[in-house]
Amino acid sequence: MPNETAAAPSAARRLEGRVAVITGAANGIGRGIAERFAVEGAQVVVADIDEAGARRVAAGLGEPALAVRVDIADPSSVAALAEAVDARFGRCEILVNNAAILDSAGIDAMSFAHYRSVLDINQDGAVRVTLAMLPLIRRARESRRILNIVSIQGVRGTRDSLAYATAKGALVNFTRALACDLGAEAIAVNALAPGFIDTQMAQLPDGGGHEHETEWFRDIYIRHGRIPLRRPGAPDDIAGPAFFLCSDDARYVTGQVLLVDGGVSATF
Ligand SMILES: NC(=O)c1ccc[n+]([C@@H]2O[C@H](COP(=O)([O-])OP(=O)(O)OC[C@H]3O[C@@H](n4cnc5c(N)ncnc54)[C@H](O)[C@@H]3O)[C@@H](O)[C@H]2O)c1
Repeated sequence: MPNETAAAPSAARRLEGRVAVITGAANGIGRGIAERFAVEGAQVVVADIDEAGARRVAAGLGEPALAVRVDIADPSSVAALAEAVDARFGRCEILVNNAAILDSAGIDAMSFAHYRSVLDINQDGAVRVTLAMLPLIRRARESRRILNIVSIQGVRGTRDSLAYATAKGALVNFTRALACDLGAEAIAVNALAPGFIDTQMAQLPDGGGHEHETEWFRDIYIRHGRIPLRRPGAPDDIAGPAFFLCSDDARYVTGQVLLVDGGVSATF
């Protein structure tokens, strides 16, 4: 099976001079986006509840990356993130709302309190961070972007994903409505919906490895082509499209959801 590997990112530094705040950037997809944006010259703020991880990633990006501990479910922590970005950079060109947790409860395992606790992070977290960062985004003058990392589960239904899928679906329409509100200021708002990406979120709860290593995954998604490209994605497969949506090339793209899923959503 021929497989395209990731090309080395260009050294064109097309985000030079832009401040990019990325939540959940200590690991996985957020980390991949942070690394790509730094290669493109952005000044990256690695914002994560995993403080040690955020520091490690920021150190790897070099100056002037900044690590900030944030819990996107905690209003005072989110306010402190905005203050830290303000103190260091005074503005923000790019916000990537990426932090989230996985939840695999279906209707029979669901209590209302549990449902709300997932929404508090996965749905309200992105809204909270957007509200806190908007004054700094407005202070930046050009090329302003908000990118919400959602999921194919935000545009399709699956079993045992009630709160997670509800939150992601809400962020899809948050993206569209916010794009309408901010369009007159030329602030573009888009969403990127990953498919199966091999990160720690894709680890099975029993610790038995990653979902793509299971027989059912190999059979259904790879052998029978439920992923037409026949492999799970890597964070780097998301970083390129995220870069595009935050670059000047996407200046006339707003309110859109880009599915980056190896073709999963194209089939049945
Ligand atoms: N991995 C996949 O297959 C997949 C598929 C579709 C969508 N996504 C989405 O992509 C995004 C990144 O997922 P990932 O696979 O890289 O997961 P991950 O678990 O590897 O990384 C998530 C990061 O978010 C951070 N985080 C969690 N709760 C937080 C909080 N309250 N405040 C701040 N930071 C917090 C974690 O510490 C971690 O660094 C998420 O929005 C996820 O829903 C992932």
